[in-house]
Amino acid sequence: TWGAVPQGPPDPILGITEAFKADKDPRKINLGVGAYRDEHGKPYVLQTVKKAEEAVASQGVDKEYLPITGLAEFTARAALLAYGAESEPLTKGAVAITQSISGTGALRIGGEFLARHYPHSKVIYVPTPTWGNHIPLFRDSGLEVRHYRYFDKQNVALDFEGLKSDLLSAPEGAIVLLHACAHNPTGIDPTPEQWEALSHIVKEKKLFPFFDMAYQGFASGDIARDAFALRHFVAQGHQVALAQSFAKNMGLYGERTGAFSVTTADPEEKARVDSQLKIIIRPMYSNPPSHGARIASAILGDQALYTQWESEVKGMADRIISMREKIYNILTHDLKTPGEWGHIKTQIGMFSYTGLNPEQTQALAQKAHVYMTKDGRISMAGLNAGNVEYFAASVDAVVRG
Ligand code: LMR
Repeated sequence: TWGAVPQGPPDPILGITEAFKADKDPRKINLGVGAYRDEHGKPYVLQTVKKAEEAVASQGVDKEYLPITGLAEFTARAALLAYGAESEPLTKGAVAITQSISGTGALRIGGEFLARHYPHSKVIYVPTPTWGNHIPLFRDSGLEVRHYRYFDKQNVALDFEGLKSDLLSAPEGAIVLLHACAHNPTGIDPTPEQWEALSHIVKEKKLFPFFDMAYQGFASGDIARDAFALRHFVAQGHQVALAQSFAKNMGLYGERTGAFSVTTADPEEKARVDSQLKIIIRPMYSNPPSHGARIASAILGDQALYTQWESEVKGMADRIISMREKIYNILTHDLKTPGEWGHIKTQIGMFSYTGLNPEQTQALAQKAHVYMTKDGRISMAGLNAGNVEYFAASVDAVVRG
């Protein structure tokens, strides 16, 4: 029956973890998937998550189904975290929101919703490069995926002129996917002034902005500041869609905790949108898992836990920054590795787009047991005091050939 089923390629990101696991060399390093590791290279469960988990357990919660759109207390708090207390659509009860299977699920619900109900276009523009999963995810939702320029390879910087010009030549009404902060994979974000200019273009061309905010807190270490782009667009009167994830900033990867929301004109319109979100979700997975949402909600809803969480997010962001400094110093000063490595220090968020090419990344995996995505992206969190020197020496060796 399945004789004609072709062998598919491994996933460009999660496939790396499989290759890493199969490698038996003790020096191996996984810089593929964007998952935080502590200074000993171990997965990290936040203290606030442990406390919230205890609080949830002590309440003796049951294992009943959540509603189709998830835990209402969680989604209300998630919306507040993203949009801010001053947000007009939020204060007037016009944000339709649903819990989702983390950020990917939020994007998928959003893609399906836009493909069915957005009246002006079926075209979505994503940056080049973007998170690899954006492309199949929106295609499978029934949207046509097109690209706007984002990365200036020559200068390892934002190609702002290319970005503006591609949005200006997009068909009126097209959807545009924007990484709200800590752009994945490049680690390069527009400045606040550039976001303001983008907001004008989006308005002028009547584009529909869909924000993917998977790393709130990881760009600046400040959770509110990282919501600048989203909040600015909303304050400028745009209607927006938003995918949120708590995988990274709460370390709730496997709990699959996220939210999809869309701003609407008023509570009556919101109610209609809510009803359609349910119609999309019910045949897909019925209703979301409860545990992660309860944890996130407990953290967001308790002042003391929230404050501690903010400092834990900053702690993760700071450890990554210290690794950036360290690699830069080893490559540039100690090893005098050919090339310019300043971008490793200036890029932000969980990733660095190193500029290593596919042959070099392959050589790193085969010869040095150092794994990263083919595009040369490294998850900075996979580095620590124990492996950063070995990593830098391995990079130096492949760059020298
Ligand atoms: C990544 O880009 O590594 C993360 O977003 C994890 C994933 O699901 O790909």
